[in-house]
Amino acid sequence: MERTLCIIKPDAVRKKVQGHIIQKILDAGFQILGMKMRHLTEAQAKAFYSIHKEKPFYKDLVEFMTSGPVVTIALQKENAIADYRKLIGATDPAKADEGTVRKLYANNVQENAVHGSDSIENGKIEVGFFFSEAELAG
Ligand code: CMP
Repeated sequence: MERTLCIIKPDAVRKKVQGHIIQKILDAGFQILGMKMRHLTEAQAKAFYSIHKEKPFYKDLVEFMTSGPVVTIALQKENAIADYRKLIGATDPAKADEGTVRKLYANNVQENAVHGSDSIENGKIEVGFFFSEAELAG
């Protein structure tokens, strides 16, 4: 079993499509181990995206991720990393396949509706960033 962290980002929460996104995740066979709505602090957003700190979009990304509440969801499934990335589509919605979460709900490459972990190792680390083991069911 693999774990991946979903973040439903502020753009999608503002559009009130978090219910649709969660249903798509459940329909694709993912188990929700933990789920919490939060308003990220600047320190949390900076730390979560620290891998991108040298990128030109880092400052804007932190600003965007703290611009409103998000929904953090710890997911589990066999082959979760690849299956979830297929479900959400490419980072840039203009390049995402039809029917993917980002094609349906993202605004642009930054305001791209959802986050997903990019490797098995990062899936564990990112779930642990927001949830303690005791908070995870199943
Ligand atoms: P995410 O999957 O959360 O991982 C890093 C985030 O950085 C990404 O989604 C986008 O929100 C943002 N991002 C990635 N590439 C760019 C880019 N070229 N311009 C602006 N934002 C980006």
